[in-house]
Amino acid sequence: MRIYAYPRLYELGFHLPPLVVWRLTVERRILQKIKPLQPRRILEVACGAGHFTRKLRDSFPGAEIVAIDISEKMIRYASNRVTGVKFKVADFWTLEGKYDLIVVIGLFPYVKDMKKGIEKITSLLCTHGKAYVTVAGPNLYTYLHRIWSRLVNRTPTYTHKPCRRVEVIEPTTGTYLMEIRAVP
Ligand SMILES: C[S@@+](CC[C@H](N)C(=O)[O-])C[C@H]1O[C@@H](n2cnc3c(N)ncnc32)[C@H](O)[C@@H]1O
Repeated sequence: MRIYAYPRLYELGFHLPPLVVWRLTVERRILQKIKPLQPRRILEVACGAGHFTRKLRDSFPGAEIVAIDISEKMIRYASNRVTGVKFKVADFWTLEGKYDLIVVIGLFPYVKDMKKGIEKITSLLCTHGKAYVTVAGPNLYTYLHRIWSRLVNRTPTYTHKPCRRVEVIEPTTGTYLMEIRAVP
């Protein structure tokens, strides 16, 4: 079973107390960071069922928002629920274009080479653009997630040693937030 082929079930899982707390904590911190910005073009990478996409749309009503995910089912589900956003099925490695703000939540556990992944995200930023990317550091939760992912999702997951530019936003799960700026 691949959980991302079942968006409704995936979303239901997030009503469980530990997951809902994780999600709200992570999203709240990212919103605090991005609210002072005035992005015209926003990209959400790996938008999943569109939970944060809706918050992006409501926070930046004048902006053009593009939300992508590799799972066709997730994109279909999200686009039926969230209007005013351009949803696309895409693999982030093949993305092109330039954005003022990029948000990536929960994708990096599936990215083997964090350095290359960060380079890819950086290449999509406009000159003064910023990206916010969550990364899971090595801790008990991450190892449990790795086992869960192998069994339920049949996908390997990777743990990354966060570098200096990170902030711990959710200590229980070892979730870090990286702020990435465009390379001039
Ligand atoms: C843990 S979910 C996070 C979804 C959403 N950001 C959230 O917070 O609910 C990871 C998502 O990454 C997507 N994904 C995995 N590999 C991807 C890739 N190479 N390009 C785009 N999306 C990808 C999956 O389909 C899934 O929807």
